Amino acid sequence: MILTMSSSRSITLRARSEEDFDMLFQLSGDLCTWEERNAESPAPLNRLAYKARLAHAETDGSAKSACFVIDVDGTAVGSVSLFDFDELARHAEVGISLVADARGKGIGTAAVSQVVEFAFVRCNLRRVHLQVIGSNLGAIRAYEKAGFVIEGRQRQHAWVRGKYEDILVMGILRSE
Ligand SMILES: CC(C)(COP(=O)(O)OP(=O)(O)OC[C@H]1O[C@@H](n2cnc3c(N)ncnc32)[C@H](O)[C@@H]1OP(=O)(O)O)[C@@H](O)C(=O)NCCC(=O)NCCS
Repeated sequence: MILTMSSSRSITLRARSEEDFDMLFQLSGDLCTWEERNAESPAPLNRLAYKARLAHAETDGSAKSACFVIDVDGTAVGSVSLFDFDELARHAEVGISLVADARGKGIGTAAVSQVVEFAFVRCNLRRVHLQVIGSNLGAIRAYEKAGFVIEGRQRQHAWVRGKYEDILVMGILRSE
């Protein structure tokens, strides 16, 4: 366990385990939210290929990342990761995804807040940033509640389900 929310629900970030595979595969293969989670073109996800990709990501020492499962009262409901660490400028990017049933209940805001605290306090980062599709209003609101601000807009940068969309760059700085 890394950090816990002070509420009746226990929202924690923890390491992945074998038992999380089905949830992670379901999340990663979800074509409905593909563009929200991936920069590359959508494609059906094959279970074996995903297993190999996960195994490679976990043993690849060249790309530093910190990947957590989001756990609510003992049930795995999503994942949140820090990646693209810049060790010199002390920043990293964050990505998050929850299974459909877990969305809209404050879990994303809590998990993002926890991973930012992990980044600042445990990794000594000074800045965390992310990219979000302009129409993903729920995500933008969750990030704002966690303390992120909109820093920029890449106009018509993404092709999303039949139309171009802006990408917002959001970030949060550690208060010294
Ligand atoms: C994005 C995501 C992580 C957010 O987590 P979440 O638990 O659903 O978000 P929260 O419940 O903490 O907060 C959502 C906020 O947005 C608001 N919201 C939801 N839909 C909205 C909309 N269409 N317009 C405006 N606000 C909206 C909610 O009311 C809530 O704000 P409030 O607490 O002030 O009422 C989650 O929805 C998810 O995994 N979505 C699918 C994948 C994805 O989009 N990942 C992000 C890629 S950048």
